[in-house]
Amino acid sequence: MLNTLSLQTTSSEKSTVLPPVRIGIIGLGTVGSGTVKLLSRNPLVDVVQIAVKSIDKARSLSDIDVSALLTTDAMAVVNNPNVQIVVELVGGIELARQWISTALNNKKHVVTANKALIATHGAELFALAKANGVALLFEASVAGGIPILMPLKMCLAANKITEIAGILNGTTNYILTRMMEDGWDFQTALTKAQALGFAEADPSSDVDGHDAAYKLAILAKIAFQRQIDVAEIFVEGITAITPADIDYAKRFGYTIRLIGLARWNEERQCPELRVHPMLLKNTHPLANVYNEYNAIWVKGDAVGDTMFYGKGAGEMPTASAVCADVLALVKDIQSNNLTACAGMEVFLAAEKVTPLPISETTNRYYIRLNTKDEAGVLAELGKAFGDEGVSLESFLQLPGQEPETASLMLVTHLAQEKNVQQALKNIVALTVTKSIGCVLRVL
Ligand code: HSE
Repeated sequence: MLNTLSLQTTSSEKSTVLPPVRIGIIGLGTVGSGTVKLLSRNPLVDVVQIAVKSIDKARSLSDIDVSALLTTDAMAVVNNPNVQIVVELVGGIELARQWISTALNNKKHVVTANKALIATHGAELFALAKANGVALLFEASVAGGIPILMPLKMCLAANKITEIAGILNGTTNYILTRMMEDGWDFQTALTKAQALGFAEADPSSDVDGHDAAYKLAILAKIAFQRQIDVAEIFVEGITAITPADIDYAKRFGYTIRLIGLARWNEERQCPELRVHPMLLKNTHPLANVYNEYNAIWVKGDAVGDTMFYGKGAGEMPTASAVCADVLALVKDIQSNNLTACAGMEVFLAAEKVTPLPISETTNRYYIRLNTKDEAGVLAELGKAFGDEGVSLESFLQLPGQEPETASLMLVTHLAQEKNVQQALKNIVALTVTKSIGCVLRVL
């Protein structure tokens, strides 16, 4: 007779109610408050200590009273023998690095939403976690509430990932959406984003593209299983985008979005890694991601195209990802089997790879030129592009802002960046050229 699996429990397994896993939190801002709210409704966990900057600050925690748990000493949390999982929700690099290193050395698991730290010091911290037999999880560090890191590591593990294109920053997506739909200029849209709480008081990391670059570095490390230096990612922000360019893009059937692009170059055996505004055909799935939403489009050789969509920031969406990591660790702690950190080796021993220089990438381009409006201008411009092997696909001319000038908008066929830049250098030197208004790449 075949052995059948018994559904009976043995006496030693019978109805053991395990004590809640004890959590220490560093940071009780927006995401910290959401995390406390979500964890407080879960009997598997017990928040035992919370480090804050100021004990007296007013907080919106519904009816949850955390006053007895507060300390202003983050080191007290990472050294607290009662804490099993440390959740770091402050951000920044140096202090967070010290707290997390100490927690790992104290054999505590760590969950963090800190993209800058994981992107820049991931390898060092994961080695420390491994040496101490604990886990460091970071799902919330990329695109807030969207499940993307675990799916990339686990659900798409059988694929060779060939391309990731992401809207990885909610602030800039809100700004570009409003500029497109309401005709606002950049500053008006930014001020509104700040009033609504989407943009930070200092929005430079968002609007200059660096926030998205950290997230892209983490995605690319997992997708391509290589070490990547975030400083080598080409980054351009959205501050130079004008309502006019948004309007001209519309006329060509395009939407402008800040895109984080990671594309594997098979011939060169290295990735293209870049964050910059791009024109997307209105029919592209990413062109239909509006306001503060994020989305990550992932192409795998087996699965084809996939897209992950949702809220990339905010109290409860980000807390959703933080708490998922906490609950994965709770399961591991209770079963005494560490599985939640599977895939961590990506950050440990992987070989470093240098991205393809931007000058060697191939793109289509949208270019706006301000020129004199006189006979022969088009011929001169056409020759300047043609001399560098850049072929034009579409073209629009409108009257310029000053008398006897023209605004020329054109979209090229695929061309190498260095050829386009050389053509533009030659165009600037022409007497018919007033200025180069805008150059954007097309996805
Ligand atoms: N400031 C980010 C954004 C959220 O606007 O998307 C945190 O990474």
